[in-house]
Amino acid sequence: MTVAICPGSFDPPTNGHIDVIQRAARHFERVVVLVSVNPAKSPMLSAQERVLLLREVLGHLDNVEVEAYEGLLVDLARQRGAGVIVKGLRALSDVEREIQMAQMNAGLYEAVDTFFVTTDPRWSFVSSSGVKEVAAYGGDVSGLVPRAVNDLLEGRYKGGSR
Ligand code: PNS
Repeated sequence: MTVAICPGSFDPPTNGHIDVIQRAARHFERVVVLVSVNPAKSPMLSAQERVLLLREVLGHLDNVEVEAYEGLLVDLARQRGAGVIVKGLRALSDVEREIQMAQMNAGLYEAVDTFFVTTDPRWSFVSSSGVKEVAAYGGDVSGLVPRAVNDLLEGRYKGGSR
């Protein structure tokens, strides 16, 4: 069985993330969505919130599972028998960081390869940090994130207060 991992911070998940995961799910028998837990960061959403949102939005895909993980991505890949990491590329500006991570991961675990998919152009300008900033000031992000994410952000930031 070919298992792929789609890793990310997903703080919050965007339509761009969902598009990449859905496309990975078409090509791999099993996809593990890894919500990275990084104690050095202060995320807007807890790992539990991110996992629950992704499970809700991706619930229609039988071959996709979502979990939070604190540790090296390659260690999870080893544990899950995953030979592929799938990442999205929005623009040239993503390439440098993504190549560094792919090469670092390949150096740590030679059995893993990183496959890149170019994001749907509708989402090429969408980032979690941009969504967070707009939502925090009460701006409309409903066209950029899944409905469940939009509902959570609206509930949190109603009225534009941060
Ligand atoms: O959505 P992001 O923030 O671009 O995702 C970055 C992520 C989570 C893929 C990366 O930080 C990661 O793989 N973290 C897990 C820890 C790890 O393995 N770090 C070394 C990667 S070179």
